[in-house]
Amino acid sequence: MGVEEMAVRLARLHGGDIEKAAFAGRYHDLAKNFDQETMDAYIRKYDLPEKLIGNNALAHSKVGAAILKNEFGVTDEEILDSVRYHTTAHKGMTLLDELIFVADVVEDNRTYSDLDYYQDLAYRDLDRACLEILEYTIGSLTSKGKEIDKDTLEARDWVFNKIKETENGK
Ligand SMILES: [Fe+2]
Repeated sequence: MGVEEMAVRLARLHGGDIEKAAFAGRYHDLAKNFDQETMDAYIRKYDLPEKLIGNNALAHSKVGAAILKNEFGVTDEEILDSVRYHTTAHKGMTLLDELIFVADVVEDNRTYSDLDYYQDLAYRDLDRACLEILEYTIGSLTSKGKEIDKDTLEARDWVFNKIKETENGK
């Protein structure tokens, strides 16, 4: 079961839009396997930030969204955002953003040792899954001395506060 199926499963569990989740899940990685030359050409063609040049891990989500918009004619900003931010997350995520971000990490083809834990968490509590994935990502990048995208740091703070506010409201 890949990202599309996981996104649909999570959408069913958390009351998301099934069709949007399926579509975004199917196409979120459409630019993933572009070679460097192709990726960089798209970055320039669609005036995407210069910092994406040479960084396919980050660029494929932005380029994918640009292609869906400009070449597939996708106009739904919610779908475009969920593709655009599926690698970094961002503050103010919609339900669809969270579904795609989390589905990408917990789909069945992933092989890391805590997969069962994160799947179970994603089924039960999408915000908490988001937070724990973001904290893991930030910790992992920090320990490798890699730069952390501003959107990722803001997403972590945002979802942390969202969970706190929800708990206080109970
Ligand atoms: Fe991706």
